[in-house]
Amino acid sequence: MTSRTLNVSGLTCRAGGRTLLRDAALRAVPGESVAVTGPSGSGKSTLLSCLAGLHRPEAGTIEVCGTDLATLRPAAAAAWRLRTIGFVYQFGELLPDLSAVENAALPLLIAGKGRREAYGTAARLLDELGVGAVADARAGVLSGGERQRVAVARALSTRPPLILADEPTGALDEYATDDVCALLFGLPARYDCTVVVVTHNPVVAHYADRRLTLRDATLHDTTVYDTTAYDTAPDDLTETAPRDATQLGTTDPDTAPRGATEAGA
Ligand SMILES: Nc1ncnc2c1ncn2[C@@H]1O[C@H](COP(=O)(O)OP(=O)(O)O)[C@@H](O)[C@H]1O
Ligand SMILES: [Mg+2]
Repeated sequence: MTSRTLNVSGLTCRAGGRTLLRDAALRAVPGESVAVTGPSGSGKSTLLSCLAGLHRPEAGTIEVCGTDLATLRPAAAAAWRLRTIGFVYQFGELLPDLSAVENAALPLLIAGKGRREAYGTAARLLDELGVGAVADARAGVLSGGERQRVAVARALSTRPPLILADEPTGALDEYATDDVCALLFGLPARYDCTVVVVTHNPVVAHYADRRLTLRDATLHDTTVYDTTAYDTAPDDLTETAPRDATQLGTTDPDTAPRGATEAGA
């Protein structure tokens, strides 16, 4: 069986006096990208906080790379998070007075790597992600698209198996949005990680292998599977793919049509 990066079931979560998630399920494997869309205030950021062990849910099980977050002791949580999850936020959230390479190296330095190794790895990643030319530029002078590329390099620097991105294109124009989406959703194939992006923007979600929608505390799988990707007759699909919206988000990664996204997408 394929090992899952994310295995979430029965997730119920409240914040600000409201139930934001009710009995939600979410599974994802290495090499896969998932986008969660939903209106502002629907609970997308809270969902990411739950996946990162930063928000304790009312009920349910969250396993990230085999670790049940309920068993994670607070003292160990930060170190676990550092090696397991890379974060990308809306504005890049770089330290403006540090250079791009210094920003990208920060998680490695925090993880205890020596300066030489940390800066070498960060510089290589900036090259790979197309921003090697601005490695020594102060982060505060970078364009929005460059900032997000550096933020992605920082998120990848410890080679975490899971990248969580919260509205990563929310501050970009449409050209930079396309550019950053191509980069972000291309990471699973390049680095064998899992990427989960939450966004209010359906255009961004379109890049993902799977799309979920969060509305009224329910997480629906709204991916349109291309049934022509199956060898089996359509009637057999009930055994292998969720046709019923109530199952959504529970696609079994061992049988789901990997890469089977919307026709023409
Ligand atoms: N720690 C918190 N305390 C109080 N209210 C919160 C907290 N976290 C989230 N909320 C509320 O929960 C709702 C969902 O927030 P959020 O997850 O940020 O939604 P989204 O990311 O979809 O815009 C909002 O109404 C927000 O104000
Ligand atoms: Mg949010």
